Amino acid sequence: MILVTGANGQLGRRIVEHLITRFGSTAGIAAGVRDAGKAADLAARGISVRPADFDRPAQLAAAFAGVDKLVLVSTDGPREQRIAQHRNAIGAARAAGVRHILYTSFLDVAADSPAEFAAVHRATEADLAASGLKVTLLRNTLYADFLPMALGDALRTGRFSLPAGAGKASFVSRDELAEAIAAAAAAPCLAKDVYELTGQALHDYHQVAAAAAQASGRALRYEPVGADDYAAALAGHGLPDWLASALAGMYAAVAAGKFARVSNDFAALVGHPPRPLACVAQELFGARPD
Ligand SMILES: NC(=O)c1ccc[n+]([C@@H]2O[C@H](COP(=O)([O-])OP(=O)(O)OC[C@H]3O[C@@H](n4cnc5c(N)ncnc54)[C@H](OP(=O)(O)O)[C@@H]3O)[C@@H](O)[C@H]2O)c1
Repeated sequence: MILVTGANGQLGRRIVEHLITRFGSTAGIAAGVRDAGKAADLAARGISVRPADFDRPAQLAAAFAGVDKLVLVSTDGPREQRIAQHRNAIGAARAAGVRHILYTSFLDVAADSPAEFAAVHRATEADLAASGLKVTLLRNTLYADFLPMALGDALRTGRFSLPAGAGKASFVSRDELAEAIAAAAAAPCLAKDVYELTGQALHDYHQVAAAAAQASGRALRYEPVGADDYAAALAGHGLPDWLASALAGMYAAVAAGKFARVSNDFAALVGHPPRPLACVAQELFGARPD
């Protein structure tokens, strides 16, 4: 049995759906959730829905019973909280006899990264290595889906500011990443232990601005800003301080080149590369009636 945690979340739910598509059936698929009521639709389709809150380790023995492969979807929240949650899940998986954990990590796990997200995933990857279980790391690049949030009201003002300098990254939609993760989970055998799930081309944010401008028909210019100024602006818009500084740190990591990596791992799993930025930008920013 394959169990996907965070199955009420946006990535986790899509992984479950891609597993169903791949197998042509819900048999052998389980969903770990914090609120079973929100997964009633999955239960109605024959998925085994199990309470699996990593903050409640006592739940996890029953959640992971009989599970062969665990797709461990990383949680959100402040750094130490996430590391502890993932550690609880890994410990419970080991105790329950799970054979193989596939973990949704992040492309940037560098020890010298300015991003706290890198520290979280690096710590969890170390915990996984120490678990003695079979582990597959699925290191996701940046979600393309977050570009509208990164742009904020830039399509109206014409200027968008991030502390990403001239750094480059690739952007892949959450749904495509979920498809690749499901492919890895469904595979009877995997060629590698670490998959870098990236697009096939790198773009700086000047190019992102150009793609969004092209798709939307609006003038748009990228203007790099400092990480501290950016974090202060986000906090001023009501984001919790930890999240404001974590996001600023992530863009500082882009500026430092930590996301400037491309691989063919996505295509190796899925059979074709993810959509290029221009296609995704059309979907995200394509002119719609106001
Ligand atoms: N690559 C990127 O650009 C990028 C961007 C954003 C986030 N991420 C990472 O990818 C993960 C999945 O992204 P997403 O789009 O699916 O985000 P999301 O919709 O916010 O989902 C977050 C998931 O974390 C789960 N979670 C939170 N606390 C938990 C706990 N105590 N125990 C078990 N599960 C818990 C949530 O469970 P419930 O469904 O029960 O609420 C939810 O499924 C995020 O959590 C984050 O680690 C990556």
